[in-house]
Amino acid sequence: MTAPARPIVEARGVSRVFPMPAGPVVALRDVTMEVGEGEYVAIAGPSGCGKSTLLHVLGCVDTATSGEVRLEGRDVGSLSDSERSRIRLAKIGFVFQRFFLLPMLSAIENVELPQAEAGVPRAVRLNRARMLLDYVGLGHRADHRPSQLSGGEMQRVAIARAMANRPRLILADEPTGELDEATGEAIAGLFDLLHKDGTAVVVVTHDPSIAARAQRVLRMRDGMLLPPPQNAPQMAQVTQTGNKGRADGGRT
Ligand SMILES: Nc1ncnc2c1ncn2[C@@H]1O[C@H](COP(=O)(O)OP(=O)(O)OP(=O)(O)O)[C@@H](O)[C@H]1O
Ligand SMILES: [Mg+2]
Repeated sequence: MTAPARPIVEARGVSRVFPMPAGPVVALRDVTMEVGEGEYVAIAGPSGCGKSTLLHVLGCVDTATSGEVRLEGRDVGSLSDSERSRIRLAKIGFVFQRFFLLPMLSAIENVELPQAEAGVPRAVRLNRARMLLDYVGLGHRADHRPSQLSGGEMQRVAIARAMANRPRLILADEPTGELDEATGEAIAGLFDLLHKDGTAVVVVTHDPSIAARAQRVLRMRDGMLLPPPQNAPQMAQVTQTGNKGRADGGRT
């Protein structure tokens, strides 16, 4: 196994517990992992095992109940909410499981938004938003609102939006989950391009064609990362997601 470059993001003993009236829900238990600069990692596992929760915690969308999350070596748990938002805006592009495009904004306005929040002047961000929509093959749909786009098109707008502030890390939650095979392939091709450009990419996916492209597949169950498959042959039953044989997930 090749050790990646210095980690862009790392989790050390991370747990996330949601207090609920019926009792606490432990969504993550003692998760330790890291993603190197420019690395392409897939996360797989059955529904409810904590994949989205892990991605949210890594992406500063949510905070860990215990343990440490470091972004470029910096402990994000010790930051204030506004510092954390600023860092997220500058360093991370997040593609949510259900897109979260703003329905009243056109495609291009959705892509402009993170740049506006980061204080980029209008002319500059408009140019970049156009360029990004072209990049994802949607230049001709710039003025469409989300309700006037297909599912695959919405997903591509969400990816363009995630790239808006040139993040070093893209986190995508089941980006091809609801797409047909050909559209899924096109989305997977976008992640390939990002990875080639040196962006670290972490994708939660059930899609074997995405997992096969990733350099590593981390497998989860019941809020935990499973050990590497060579140490746990029973893991093959957990998911049929394929990979290139570098499934050295859980490396600590
Ligand atoms: N905000 C929340 N409040 C309470 N429980 C939550 C919350 N978010 C997630 N959970 C619970 O935590 C567990 C992990 O959820 P999570 O969304 O991370 O799963 P997942 O692996 O992404 O599943 P899927 O493949 O269905 O998207 C689930 O049991 C879920 O019910
Ligand atoms: Mg999920």
